[in-house]
Amino acid sequence: MCGIVGFSSRSTSAVRPLVSGLSRLEYRGYDSAGVALESTAGVRVFKQTGKVAELDKLLKRELPEEERAKYTLGIAHTRWATHGLPTVANAHPHLADGGRLALVHNGIIENYAALRDGLERRGVEFVSQTDTEVLAHLVAAFDRGDFLAAVCEALKRVEGTYGIAAISARHPGEMVVARKGSPLVIGIGEKDTVVASDVSAIVAYTRQVIYLKDGDVAMVTPDGVDIHSLDNSPVSREVQEVDWDIGAIEKGGYDHFMLKEIFEQPDALANTIRGRLDPGGGTAILSGLNLSPRELAAVRRLVIVGCGTSLHAGMVGKCLFESLADVPASPEQAAEFRYSNPIVGPDDWVIALSQSGETADTLAAVRESIRKGALVSALCNVVGSTIAREAGRGVYLHAGPEISVASTKAFTAQVTALLMTALKLGRTRRLSREAGDRLVREITGLPDLVRRVLAQSEAIARIAEKYASASDMFFIGRGILYPVALEGALKVKEVAYVHAEGYQAAELKHGPIALLSEKTPVVALLADIPGKEKTLGNVQECRARNAPVIAVATEGDETAAATDAMVVPKTCPELAPIVSAVALQLFAYHVARLRGCEIDQPRNLAKSVTVE
Ligand code: G6P
Repeated sequence: MCGIVGFSSRSTSAVRPLVSGLSRLEYRGYDSAGVALESTAGVRVFKQTGKVAELDKLLKRELPEEERAKYTLGIAHTRWATHGLPTVANAHPHLADGGRLALVHNGIIENYAALRDGLERRGVEFVSQTDTEVLAHLVAAFDRGDFLAAVCEALKRVEGTYGIAAISARHPGEMVVARKGSPLVIGIGEKDTVVASDVSAIVAYTRQVIYLKDGDVAMVTPDGVDIHSLDNSPVSREVQEVDWDIGAIEKGGYDHFMLKEIFEQPDALANTIRGRLDPGGGTAILSGLNLSPRELAAVRRLVIVGCGTSLHAGMVGKCLFESLADVPASPEQAAEFRYSNPIVGPDDWVIALSQSGETADTLAAVRESIRKGALVSALCNVVGSTIAREAGRGVYLHAGPEISVASTKAFTAQVTALLMTALKLGRTRRLSREAGDRLVREITGLPDLVRRVLAQSEAIARIAEKYASASDMFFIGRGILYPVALEGALKVKEVAYVHAEGYQAAELKHGPIALLSEKTPVVALLADIPGKEKTLGNVQECRARNAPVIAVATEGDETAAATDAMVVPKTCPELAPIVSAVALQLFAYHVARLRGCEIDQPRNLAKSVTVE
């Protein structure tokens, strides 16, 4: 949530790297953007509301090419508003010390009101409504000649979360960065050093990176990086190599990242599965879980925490754990879990699901579960992310970078990883080797099944055309397909701005059916799972109210009762959620495209929500 870029070089102008870095981070927030550039003459700031392209236009107007070379140090930010409207005044960087100090910030300063009061009493005037401006003035107030020490002193007084980067005309050539609860990565190039809240803004320059840890404060100069703790003692952090390159975060000929990521799913899932199935033993090898069969056998209950799409994957996980391993499982919205004084302890296995590994509520749930002594694992996509590190054990999805704000390949990879986890847990209990083997074979064939759904893209686009103008839609499913109904509705809301509701198929008649008419399409999940016949009955109820029904049905089994059908290949119930979800992703994509929506960056959303 919000993106930070910093650039420090001996000879290269920082302007272009900062702007292109921001464009790569735009998925983190995109309501306003800004840069601060330092030269011997001082700090200059450019801010604009709207997307990074608007900032770029402003820079083109106000900073001619010939002037750019002198700015070799700068910081930049793309914002997702928390405190204050998306205005130029509230956009980052924020200034202090009479415009000499500039600071960008991700996260939330919880005690900002008290800090602001104190600063105002000392005569500081604020120009924005943000919590960040408080931080800028606080750093300036502690600046007695040592920039890093000033940042440390300021941060010691701050409650909340931050990833920050700051520059000051009083300290030419220096950039200080720090993190607590909001990611920050430093890329070590041959000539340049790049700082960003996400490696995707760094890989264009270098794949050698340092992931800062909470409590780290670093001085970045063209000569290198010095990392300290908040009490200003030196710490050392290892340089790691990013294992993917720039191609992974470019559109590669697709119109949108969302479509590219939908189409990447066969490969993404092959990567999630690779090396993790044991056909001889009929089980999964998930060494990152680091759990012995004895520990697995001792698990009495599973709690799966996540938000948004990850929560929906967790709901599918519940069905898988209960049916394959006979272990009760409860999916919990991570924020609710955290504030409900959750009853978890040593017999419980808490699995945190997060594509980004940075979602604040999910992280808080992980911390609370660790405090309560539960066994905690994380299923994350982003390697080295905070949730993955704090959980200490888990399964990386290896789905590759997901740029589109609406999550697609991470969802199917999460469900696949959960299925393998359930298989492994099941094999410590009642699941026979034969049953395990059957699943191993099914999972091995998953990438091909998904390919067959993708081949339906044009057919799904034609169905989308019929319904793209609807202003309300319903998605129904039961059992393991109920969470897919929720996810299908979420996708349509997120990218197409259509009001959509996901319902348990039988629940529709307990109220929502009052809303059905010929104007409310109902998408019915009818892949082959136990209970399908009952859902067919619910379809009839919808048809009897004149609602058009779009079935997501198994090949050769398209129900005559439906108005239209999206066809998915025949598979076992455990994989039905994945093939059905892919069809719904395509449907949402095409509806959004036909409605002319901003597909990759829908209004008001951010990919990684690092505030509670
Ligand atoms: C945001 C995104 C969603 C995502 C959710 C959880 O709301 O817009 O697409 O599902 O966060 O994110 P995570 O990274 O924890 O999976």
